[in-house]
Order: sequence, then C-alpha cells, then structure tokens
Amino acid sequence: GLMGYDPAFLNTANCKSAITFIDGDKGILEYRGYPIEQLAERSSFLEVAYLLLNGELPTQKQQDEFTYLVTHHTYVHENIKTFMDGFRYDAHPMSMLSSTVAALSGFYPDARNTKDERSRRIQMTRLIAKMPTIAAFSYRHSMGLPYVYPDNDLSYVGNFLAMIRKIGTSTYKPHPTLEKALDVLFILHADHEQNCSTTSVRTVGSSEVDPYSAVAAGVAALYGPLHGGANEAVLRMLREIGHVSKVPDFIKAVKGGEGEKKLMGFGHRVYKSYDPRAKVIKRVADEVFEVTGKNPLLEIAVELERIALQDEYFVKRKLYPNVDFYSGLIYEAMGFPVEMFPVLFAIPRTVGWVTQWEEMVKDPEQKIARPRQVYTGPKRRDFVPMNDRK
Ligand code: CMC
Repeated sequence: GLMGYDPAFLNTANCKSAITFIDGDKGILEYRGYPIEQLAERSSFLEVAYLLLNGELPTQKQQDEFTYLVTHHTYVHENIKTFMDGFRYDAHPMSMLSSTVAALSGFYPDARNTKDERSRRIQMTRLIAKMPTIAAFSYRHSMGLPYVYPDNDLSYVGNFLAMIRKIGTSTYKPHPTLEKALDVLFILHADHEQNCSTTSVRTVGSSEVDPYSAVAAGVAALYGPLHGGANEAVLRMLREIGHVSKVPDFIKAVKGGEGEKKLMGFGHRVYKSYDPRAKVIKRVADEVFEVTGKNPLLEIAVELERIALQDEYFVKRKLYPNVDFYSGLIYEAMGFPVEMFPVLFAIPRTVGWVTQWEEMVKDPEQKIARPRQVYTGPKRRDFVPMNDRK
C-alpha cells in the first residue's frame, strides 16, 4: 500500500492542535494566540496554565478558583515518600520524577476513566499541583535533607522554592525577584507544541492509558540530553571550556565534528531564527544576576554566542541560541544543581502535556498511535537447526 517514509516525523503533522502556534522562521511563539513576550511580561504562570487548559484567559473569579484548586492538590500520599526513599542517594532526580509520576497511577485508579471529563480534570489538576512537590522531594532526597510539605499559602513558585530551601521550622520567604524570574521561566516552558516529550505523552496516551503513565513517558523523554537535558549539558560544556580564551578552540572542535561535539543550547528542530524564549530569558538573567551576583560562566556563554552568530558554519545551518542556552546559568545562580535543570523544565511542561493529552483524548480523529515502517531486513528464509549453523 501507499506509504510515506518520514523518519522522526520531520514533515508529518501527527495531530491538529489549537494550543500553541510556532513560526520557526520568524521566531514566533504563541499560546492560544497570545504572543509569548506579552505573557512573559504581563501574566503569571498559573494564569497561563489556565489559558492553556481552557483556551481563554481567566476572569478574576476563575483565576481564584483555579489557584485554590491547584494549591489544594499539592500534597502527595505518605507512601509516595516511602517510594522515593527507596532510591539510592545519588539517583538522578529526573529518574525519581519519571518513576514517581508513573507510580501515581497506582494511587489514583479512577484515573483510568479517561472518557469522563470530570475525572480527567481532577487528574490534570493533581499532576500540575503535585509535580513541584515530587520535584522538591527528589532534590531533598539527593541532598539527604528531610522532605518539606507544601505550604498552600504561598504562590505556586514560592511554594516550590520553599520546599527546596526551607530548613527546620524557620520560615522561608522567597526573594521576590527570584520568585518572579522562576515564574517567567515556567511561563516560557509551559508548552511547545509537538516536541519529543509531548509527542511521547500523546503516543502513550493514545492507548487510553491513564494520564500519569502518559506524563511519566513525557518526563522520560525530557530526561534525554537532546531535549530537557540540554541546559544541563550547556553548563557542563561551559565548565569544560573553563575560560573565555578557550572559546575559539571549542568552536573549532564543534565545526570539525571532533568527538561529535555540539554547541549545546544551539539549534532547534523548528526555530531557524533566534528562539523567542531565549530573548526573554536574557532579560530575566540580568534581573537574577542583580540579586545573586554574576555567574562566572556567563562570560564564556556570551563569547560563544558572539562568535557563533557570525561564524559561517552556524549561520549557514541557521543555528541560534535556544531556550536552554541561558536558562541553566540562571538556575545555577539561583543555587540549583545541574541535575535539577530538567526537573525545572518538567514542572511547567506538565501543563502542556496534560493540555495536549486532553486535546488528543477529545479529538474524534485520533486513534491509537501506530506508525508504519519500511522493512529492510532479510527476505523469507528457512529455519536452520543449530548443529548445521556456521
Ligand atoms: N552544534 C553544532 N552543530 C549543530 C548543532 C549544534 N548544537 N545543532 C545542529 N547542528 C548541525 C548538525 O550537525 C547538522 O549539520 P550537517 O548539516 O552538516 O549534518 C545541521 O546542524 C542540522 O542539524 P540537525 O541535527 O539535522 O537538526 P535537528 O533538527 O535534527 O536537531 C537539535 C535539533 C535541537 C536536536 C540540535 O540542534 C541539537 O542537538 N542541539 C543541541 C542540543 C540542544 O540544545 N537541545 C535543546 C533544544 S531546545 C529545548 C528542548 O526542546 O528541549
């Protein structure tokens, strides 16, 4: 029969979607029609979450109700703590996150009822609300610190920072600039249409499995160095370079394909111009560094960008800084270890995952994901008994 060959779906639309619009050539990103720059400047993460989930910006009343709902689903079952305690002290927090999110499906058997809108919405709220809690627990576990329970009087981001930072019974007040910066970073990461992790969520979810299992697959995809692991890789790269004077040598090694080196934080499947998120992040970085002091690796990053943007290799291939190029520097300045970077991506992307998951579930044109292949193996042949094999 007729079959198109399109590895990695480079040229195939896998779904119709009304959530996020990207024009990669022009560097445009919009959620439900609203430009990302306006949302980053004028909105808040939970408002953007509402927008993505429901298609419209909330009224004050809708926003209050939604915030109440999210803040009252932040707690996890006590056995989740026991589950997380089972990990080695040096387990990567992303591995803890994906397994724990998968484990949630065992705690909420009602989630298997994916046809019921009310049940769907409860699971989606739970996922958005509990992700920061599980993320913070994974951090505390790796630091050997006791878990901190959510504080429902704080903002979404403030509560997350408190669960990360709080020591003993002392009160923790997040610095307003850092709280705001993380909120903006969360807005920028909330959705990005059919990226690898979202495609994973849709693919797994198309079997009508519960959303915890589907989102766990999304977290797993995000763990990969080419996706959510990129900002972690950027930091490792900057450390490896070590000094601005070494930047030209590094660029040379990348172009020569030595050891398959890539300029991490550069290039994008869709953006063939400056990633609009990277522009906003640069501004956020300045605000954060005002408070925390400059990250010494910033100088190397700025020099890498300067050289790469005028180097023929990168210009010809339309390789520009992406969202991850500067985000890691901000996270590090805020005191997060590199292992937490993809976790900081997973928290806000959960909104995109569940929104896309529900859109797929409701779409009458969607079926179980089942791509075809071009077979390249041997032609039919007869079985050879072991004694006759050479
Ligand atoms: N450094 C050096 N060369 C690169 C880079 C890079 N970062 N990215 C692409 N190229 C080259 C690539 O070698 C190829 O060259 P040639 O035509 O000579 O073979 C050409 O540019 C086209 O690249 P591609 O691999 O076909 O592009 P892709 O669309 O398959 O890959 C990408 C997109 C993001 C995986 C890739 O650019 C990359 O690996 N970047 C570094 C990792 C990174 O920063 N990822 C974060 C992406 S944004 C956040 C997220 O989605 O998680």
